[in-house]
Amino acid sequence: MKTWTINLAGFGTVGAGLWNHLQSHTDLLRQRVQAEFKIQKIAVRDIAKARGVPSEMLTTDLLSLAKDPRAEILVELIGGIEPAYTLVKTALQNGKHVVTANKALLAAHGQELLALAAKQNRHLLFEASVAGAIPIIKTLREGLAANKILSIHGIINGTCNYILSRMEAERLDYATVLAEAKRLGYAEADEALDVDGHDTAHKAIILAALVYGLWVDENQIYIEGIRKIDRLDQEFAARLGYTLKLIAIIQSADGKEVDIRVHPTLLPQRHVLASVHGVFNAVAIRGDAIGDALFYGRGAGALPTTSAVAADLIEIARNVLPTSSLPIITADNAPRLKPIAEVLSRYYLRLNVVDRPGVLAQIATILSKHTIGISSVIQPEGHPGDVVPLILMVHDARESAFQEARKEIEALPFISPPAIVIRVEDFV
Ligand SMILES: NC(=O)c1ccc[n+]([C@@H]2O[C@H](COP(=O)([O-])OP(=O)(O)OC[C@H]3O[C@@H](n4cnc5c(N)ncnc54)[C@H](OP(=O)(O)O)[C@@H]3O)[C@@H](O)[C@H]2O)c1
Repeated sequence: MKTWTINLAGFGTVGAGLWNHLQSHTDLLRQRVQAEFKIQKIAVRDIAKARGVPSEMLTTDLLSLAKDPRAEILVELIGGIEPAYTLVKTALQNGKHVVTANKALLAAHGQELLALAAKQNRHLLFEASVAGAIPIIKTLREGLAANKILSIHGIINGTCNYILSRMEAERLDYATVLAEAKRLGYAEADEALDVDGHDTAHKAIILAALVYGLWVDENQIYIEGIRKIDRLDQEFAARLGYTLKLIAIIQSADGKEVDIRVHPTLLPQRHVLASVHGVFNAVAIRGDAIGDALFYGRGAGALPTTSAVAADLIEIARNVLPTSSLPIITADNAPRLKPIAEVLSRYYLRLNVVDRPGVLAQIATILSKHTIGISSVIQPEGHPGDVVPLILMVHDARESAFQEARKEIEALPFISPPAIVIRVEDFV
């Protein structure tokens, strides 16, 4: 029986989880793969910390792991871009297969590292980088490989979904729920990567590359997080039949122009994604042959993430796929990123207006000048002269036209800016 020798970089939540998993699942792995996986060296930052592994296995010298001639596989679980980038690159240059859970690294350097892996005829696998327990990468590469993928809508950041779910269910404000999420370990001490949408964007970039072969830079796509979400908007949205989620949207009708964005989105309450609550993730995929499919599960945590890392080790052992199964892109078929200004969407618009006759008519005139129609209105009653919220749902509009209209509306004398804008997805 073959024994695969692994060097492991990082022994935190996922690294220690992998160690424990390989110890407790030795028999299962022998049966399933006819192979054994042996971790021989582990790199950490603080070698003095008690870890329950033999001390001679530990090192702080990351690059020695990548150059070690005895290791066949390097598992990178330190996170961040450097030194992870240099580590993975060096490991591939030294003929190792690499498994990583690092979405930030892949979003920034995935194209170059996958090309290097292909050149070296080695695997670079990253199932754990998107949606933890949901095998979405393998699903797209294998199970759905014969489909034209028309759209992916993902709730792929558990922290944001936890915050939005509790705000909605318990009518709590953002700051209260964020503090609670930190206390429970669902949010990092520095929450920015999650709540500002960057973590979701990294995963969206990986999915777009996987499906359409288009690698984009994080700063090329529209990213809006959940920091400014007011529970008032969740309440008005609920009255209109919608629920609010942070959604990654990756879609293309023809594979030639790809729309990739991350923003708070109103979803119809009847849609399956609307019932994904708490730290759970879900990915809704529309393929030309399968129609709609939903994948649901835990997005993070030691066990779910380890399950994905171990599945990549098994894939290497089975050697079922060549190194890269991303689409082959040439100058002739390279897709284009659709600019946000060209995106068509419905919008929820909340304005603070002085309650007086003719207000709605003036707003409607501006919208109609930009050929934007109104589909619903909520106008709570106030006393003349009071500032009251006015909520409009508008029909499909082009982002550039809508933003022009929004600016004109915000400049009206009876409006108190800023207008609150949330995009709506109807999944028709
Ligand atoms: N946690 C999850 O649920 C989850 C889910 C999906 C994906 N991921 C991804 O998995 C990766 C690991 O996440 P994690 O939560 O396990 O992180 P973590 O708990 O912070 O652990 C990081 C580990 O890497 C080590 N490390 C960091 N920088 C190092 C350096 N320069 N040299 C040597 N060792 C270094 C740390 O050493 P010390 O122990 O000495 O500090 C620690 O053992 C990240 O890319 C993350 O995005 C995590």
